[in-house]
Amino acid sequence: KKIAVLISGRGSNLAALIEACQADDYPAEIALVVSNRPGARGLKLAEDAGIATATIDHKTYSSRESFEERLDAVLGEAKVEIICCAGFLRLLTDGFVERWRNRILNIHPSLLPAYRGLNTHERVLAEGGRITGCTVHFMRPEMDAGPIIAQAAVPVLGNDTADELAARVLKAEHIVYPLALRLVASGRVRLSGEQVVYEGDET
Ligand code: GRF
Repeated sequence: KKIAVLISGRGSNLAALIEACQADDYPAEIALVVSNRPGARGLKLAEDAGIATATIDHKTYSSRESFEERLDAVLGEAKVEIICCAGFLRLLTDGFVERWRNRILNIHPSLLPAYRGLNTHERVLAEGGRITGCTVHFMRPEMDAGPIIAQAAVPVLGNDTADELAARVLKAEHIVYPLALRLVASGRVRLSGEQVVYEGDET
């Protein structure tokens, strides 16, 4: 399956996906990396790996719709079948998310449905949570919502700062995203209503 990875910055999840796709038996290949921010570090990672990139700077578009029109065109040209958002900090319109329904994945650094939104690690620490983690899910128009494909739990340690916790969760993200994409790209997950079912599981 042809994948596009949408990024805005650092691109460490992109790096994990690039590495996973290098395995012969991996069912996905990254056809395109798109950044809405010029100069995002992830763009350099993609270029170094010989992957096509596109920068679509949202600041140069007058509306979300015209930005997404360009995004759709670029995805179409590259024959993209599945989109992976990985640190993509631009909100997508309901129309875009619906057009890509069940073909657009996102990773979020918490155990959804807990801690939707930004600053998850700060909020976990402020509330004294002892377990957090990360979630890969199919995107829905509501932010950080949608059928959960895979999750990993990560412990909160005694004197964690938000940065230390973020780093521990990020390591888990780098395992879970490639795993979730593998399941989706190989057709081993399907939806039963709004719930993900693994092929072969009792329903
Ligand atoms: C990750 O923590 C991801 O869960 C969140 O944004 C961060 C992106 O990091 N949505 P990177 O750009 O993949 O390094």
